[in-house]
Amino acid sequence: MTTHPLPGRDRLLSGITPSGSLTLGNYLGALRRFRDAQDDAFYVVANLHALTTAHDPTPLRERTMSTAALFFASGLDPDRATVFVQSDVPAHVELGYLLECVAYVGELGRMIQFKEKGGQPRTRASLFTYPCLMAADILLYEAVRVPVGGDQSQHVELARDVAIRFNGLYGPTFVVPELAAAPAAARVRDLADPARKMSKSAPDDAAGVIRMLDRPDVIRRKIQRAVTDGDGRMVYDPDAKPGLANLAEILGALTGQAPAEAMSGYGRYGDLKSACADAVVDALDPVRRRHDQLMGDVDELTALLARGAQRAAEVADRTLGRARAAIGLVGARR
Ligand code: TYM
Repeated sequence: MTTHPLPGRDRLLSGITPSGSLTLGNYLGALRRFRDAQDDAFYVVANLHALTTAHDPTPLRERTMSTAALFFASGLDPDRATVFVQSDVPAHVELGYLLECVAYVGELGRMIQFKEKGGQPRTRASLFTYPCLMAADILLYEAVRVPVGGDQSQHVELARDVAIRFNGLYGPTFVVPELAAAPAAARVRDLADPARKMSKSAPDDAAGVIRMLDRPDVIRRKIQRAVTDGDGRMVYDPDAKPGLANLAEILGALTGQAPAEAMSGYGRYGDLKSACADAVVDALDPVRRRHDQLMGDVDELTALLARGAQRAAEVADRTLGRARAAIGLVGARR
């Protein structure tokens, strides 16, 4: 199989794990980009990925629905993009297993997220294997490009490697996907600790994490209290001044400017913070309102997701059928 996209096609697939309350990082690195590229696109609420670490079933159900509502509230149109919940399409689990039979322990052990969160005797086995599930998410839809933030690039690379290996061993089966790196704000930092990325798995009350559902006053307070530095020079320097650079990157991502340009109009840190807070509130407040409306009509949301899952399954089952046949499984199914 060629590593080139199919002629005339630019299919996209990406996803978000409902393992916490979504952040400004998820919005800038993912959701806002999903909104801007909807035709021939598949966007998945990756709830099976949320089972890889300790979780409670009730909040997981709620977060799955709330995350789906945020997809639509951010501007995804169910008549253009296919939006669905991963566990509604069983092919993901089945192809995930077939890919576990192609991936190597060595490469899975090198995944940064496993090295950070795993490696303990009671680490869930699925935390080790889930990059294969993510590869299945991508390969099932013959995705050509995968828009993700910087922290997911190693997983997309693994999906490529596994696809190439499978095609080499068992014959042309998968389109080999490419990473679509974020043009701006690829790694939004925690406002209270700019050495860390802003993460939805931070504690609920984390001062440096802006949640997409935070109210305007909360967003403003978090940004006003963002850690910067004491030298007072308005210079874009992510290594020496990561806190200030983060604010400039957020503002720039929202105004369509380069970070240095975005900060150039402000003399004092406080002014940059106010401008950044205004821009974030302007972007997120309408999204929160639409989210709340959608969550008020769960039947409608469920129906939208059922439609998405049906469309997704049609594509996924075809690819899975090819993979089953190629790898040597027999059976009348598909
Ligand atoms: P997840 O849920 O951790 O993150 C979802 C998306 O948000 C991006 N992101 C960020 N971007 C910029 N700054 C940040 N601070 C930040 N935090 C998160 C992530 O890069 C990602 O694009 N396993 C994946 C979800 C997934 C997936 C897929 C992605 C499942 N199947 C198939 C792509 C293709 C995950 O846990 O992402």
